[in-house]
Amino acid sequence: MSKNECVAVLDIGTAKTVAFVMELGSRAKPFVRGAGLSATLGLHKGKVADGEALAFSLRGALAQAEQNADCKISKLFCNPAGVSVKTLLNRGTTAIQQKTKEICAPDVERVVEASKILPVNSGQEVVHAVPQRFYIDERPCQQVLGEHGVRLEVETRIIAADAQQLADLTGIVNGPGFGPLTGWIHNGLALAGSVLTEEEQNASALVMDMGAGTTEVTLVDKQQPVFTFTLPVAGRHITNDLSVGLGISFDEAEQLKLQYGVAGEDMADPQKMVEFEGQKNAVSLRVVGEIIEARLQEIFMLVQQSILEAGRQIPPAVILAGGTALLPGLAKLLATRWETQVRIADPPRVEGAPVNFHNAAFVSIAAMSIYTAHLNIFAKKTEKGYFRGIFDKFSYYWRAFSGI
Ligand SMILES: Nc1ncnc2c1ncn2[C@@H]1O[C@H](COP(=O)(O)OP(=O)(O)OP(=O)(O)O)[C@@H](O)[C@H]1O
Ligand SMILES: [Mg+2]
Repeated sequence: MSKNECVAVLDIGTAKTVAFVMELGSRAKPFVRGAGLSATLGLHKGKVADGEALAFSLRGALAQAEQNADCKISKLFCNPAGVSVKTLLNRGTTAIQQKTKEICAPDVERVVEASKILPVNSGQEVVHAVPQRFYIDERPCQQVLGEHGVRLEVETRIIAADAQQLADLTGIVNGPGFGPLTGWIHNGLALAGSVLTEEEQNASALVMDMGAGTTEVTLVDKQQPVFTFTLPVAGRHITNDLSVGLGISFDEAEQLKLQYGVAGEDMADPQKMVEFEGQKNAVSLRVVGEIIEARLQEIFMLVQQSILEAGRQIPPAVILAGGTALLPGLAKLLATRWETQVRIADPPRVEGAPVNFHNAAFVSIAAMSIYTAHLNIFAKKTEKGYFRGIFDKFSYYWRAFSGI
């Protein structure tokens, strides 16, 4: 049994739930002591359709990870799967309390907490708050600690979730056999913190997690998660198209996609035909590529439309994660369509993680683990829990706040 504190992280996906039980120690690098994997039941079209079935899946992955880790879990973090999430800007204000009017850590913590207050009837709950700009007596200021003033103000980028859906998911995660939940980690924020290069974080980049049931998109601009949305379309729909289009079962279509699927007719072997039991005619791989491309083009179009409608542009860098990103040729197809640079995220290395987890489908759990390790260090380094509310920066949270 480990002496160190063990923390569990759950990535709840439409197809699979992954659990890591990690030892955090004093380093910002997680060490995975146990991993668990289960097929997710109860999520449909990106929403919770059957709470009990979902709870069963989560318990399965977590119990497996806990057993492998042989340690007691003291904290549990998970992604708000199946919950509608959006970004918004909010402001908070506080008066400086010290007689000397010098700004101290509790002032910063208080002002950020104030910026997390949303209108009562908003129906939203804050999942992350990323401070964007501070003002001292209306004067913009990056480094506020030690400065003097009467009034401190902050502009904060909020990632907010639908309050009712979040409460429902909290009920499931806090169910018998696991929990209690310590906090939520928005997948896109965690990904942005660990798969973007510093240059990409400082400029503008799009992280696109193409899973089984959802395509989750997060736009980062100058180190801020400025826009995030989830489309209820991804790999499962491709499989379904193949199943319907070719008259084969869903399982046969999934197998076909995994073995021979490519992101376009031109990329398929023109000679190759695949036979299926009970089918008169063999299936041409060019047709398979054609069906897959049609659905991918639709997803790309929907993502682009949402970005343009939000008054944003396709950025110069797009980083793909999720199992569907493994489709050969997908990155090239998207690069051509959007005339931008596209690459598949290299899964961040997490010590102790199973080697077969080192691919795009497991980038999220790795990113969430790294994020959690940073939270832990940050909470430890900041005495009395100061800054607990403001650590929601990406990889640069040290840099950004070391001087406040
Ligand atoms: N090598 C591959 N080629 C093509 N598709 C793949 C490959 N490997 C996995 N997939 C597809 O990726 C999808 C699963 O991806 P992932 O594990 O990221 O989903 P998830 O996290 O469970 O779901 P979501 O994030 O959508 O809620 C499935 O549709 C699967 O068919
Ligand atoms: Mg996923």
